Amino acid sequence: MNDVARDSSTNQTVTVTDNSTGKSVELPILGGTVGPRAIDVRRLYAETGCFTYDPGFTSTASCESAITYIDGEAGILMHRGYMIEDLAEHSDFMDVCYLLLHGELPKVEEKEAFEHSITYHTMLHEQMNYFYRGFRRDSHPMAIMVGVVGAMSAFYHDSTDISDPHQRMVASHRLIAKMPTIAAMAYKFSIGQPFVYPRNDLNYAENFLNMVFSVPCEEYKISPVLARAMDRIFILHADHEQNASTSTVRISGSSNANPFACIAAGIASLWGPAHGGANEAVLQMLQEIGSKDRIPEFIERAKDRDDPFRLMGFGHRVYKNYDPRAKVMQKSCHEVLGELGVKDPLLGIAMELERIALEDEYFAEKKLFPNVDFYSGIILKAMGFPTSMFTVLFALARTVGWVAQWREMIEDPSQRISRPRQVYNGHTEREYVPLDQR
Ligand code: SDX
Repeated sequence: MNDVARDSSTNQTVTVTDNSTGKSVELPILGGTVGPRAIDVRRLYAETGCFTYDPGFTSTASCESAITYIDGEAGILMHRGYMIEDLAEHSDFMDVCYLLLHGELPKVEEKEAFEHSITYHTMLHEQMNYFYRGFRRDSHPMAIMVGVVGAMSAFYHDSTDISDPHQRMVASHRLIAKMPTIAAMAYKFSIGQPFVYPRNDLNYAENFLNMVFSVPCEEYKISPVLARAMDRIFILHADHEQNASTSTVRISGSSNANPFACIAAGIASLWGPAHGGANEAVLQMLQEIGSKDRIPEFIERAKDRDDPFRLMGFGHRVYKNYDPRAKVMQKSCHEVLGELGVKDPLLGIAMELERIALEDEYFAEKKLFPNVDFYSGIILKAMGFPTSMFTVLFALARTVGWVAQWREMIEDPSQRISRPRQVYNGHTEREYVPLDQR
């Protein structure tokens, strides 16, 4: 497990007393290096006959992890101790991938070797192309991603033995390397253009842009500004602790399912509009608002408990402060639109919406701030991506986080198959009623 010094002084305990029986049980408190401590409840059921109850796991630590730390109150996000703002400013996505997987920023030769491995795994098995023909042209690209990534299990058998560290490493590199190729092919398929093969002379972000936007008929000039913005967007989406899709990957992996199936499960979970699908939903919301003068109407709807409408790109299960990724994303938004000379009225609506919402006591009281999805869609739209590809890009970037968390779980000696329990509120035993007597 993590070799960073832990605060071993937390050999503290809590005592839980069942007041109906007077029986007490003393439980240890688990302390990490920073952040909330956890009551270790593993003996609770055996000693009290009671489960804990925590729908949505809002107060439950599902694992120990050394990869990402979030302080939701302060709006802090760190990967292996490095602040996301520093990584977004000074690192590139390959740096961050290596950091998430290995725990340290790579030295020059380590980065060269890692980047070479990723570059030389970007091609897909040629036969996987045929999967795309099985989809309708108007399929949502996330549906294609779930299908094709899951199907990798049928092609890369030599990296599905999760007990073999070498195979875990190969599967990790294959997933990180091939996700841009699969994503770009999903886009090309949807617009009826030919697939573009990866190029080994381009870096990760450049290669992805080339596979998405180039056509065989002419040379595609890769804008360094767009490539840097793409790389930064990948960094901002790389990992985020035990969110819904990462927990899905961990739970799938706890049954020793192969890594490709686990990542496909993560993609499926991320698709939801309450999670990674929010970036697509933000654009649709801004387009529905249409003009600044309609913002108050939508703010009121978001505050109306009887109206299911929510301000997409606002609020977060953990952040009760500004999502630090949103700040970097907003800065990139201005850079990219400025560089491209794009005057998108949606950006003006988004900024006015943010200003009004942040001054509104409802949002202040519920601590609802813009999250990572609020500005990302505007940049991606300016870069030429259709809204249906926004969550695909989120999945592409999050693959390294899912893989790093999956490997940490597999390599954690205390990990067991995930099997939550329940509070049963159905029928107690009753006599069977034959059909002719019902
Ligand atoms: C991501 O977990 C992660 O880390 C996820 C993620 C990652 O990187 O993996 O950060 C990526 O998923 C970002 C979140 C993207 N989703 C959205 O932008 C969708 C809109 N946001 C909401 O659906 C909501 O804020 C959630 C789902 C993100 C969080 O929901 P919670 O923590 O369960 O909060 P809640 O639903 O309990 O809301 C608390 C209160 C409620 O009001 P009351 O019932 O207390 O009266 O705040 C209200 C909610 O109605 N509220 C909102 C709101 N979000 C919460 N009201 C209006 N607009 C919103 N966006």
